[in-house]
Amino acid sequence: MAKMASTYSLFLKPNSNLKVLEKIDWYKLYNSVEEAKSKLPENGKRRVVASGRPICIVRTKTGFYAVDDACPHLGESLSKGTVNYLDEIVCPWHSYRYHLQNGEECKGRGAKLVTHRLEMREDGVFLGVNL
Ligand code: FES
Repeated sequence: MAKMASTYSLFLKPNSNLKVLEKIDWYKLYNSVEEAKSKLPENGKRRVVASGRPICIVRTKTGFYAVDDACPHLGESLSKGTVNYLDEIVCPWHSYRYHLQNGEECKGRGAKLVTHRLEMREDGVFLGVNL
């Protein structure tokens, strides 16, 4: 998996005049959505390392998601966990459940899981790692 590009965004933080610079490194995961679907079955997970960071790619019935492959509780690899019907990834260690769309833990236990961007483009499926 090769890094394709980096993008930078400058935006205003809500309710302040503080400007925030966001850097995203982009990686091509698959050549097409069809290839992604054939290689990653529903409720499947794939661990990749991008920008030195372990990332868990997940496919559910609602789509593809990318999150840090480290549970915010005590760091267990979430790619060893399971995916449930609520679009949550369940940590194999203490069963904390993180929603794949926003990273929130279902019972508010601890920090949010870091989510990353996945874009389906004409030329492939791309992972955008927030740095
Ligand atoms: S390490 Fe994931 S729930 Fe404890």
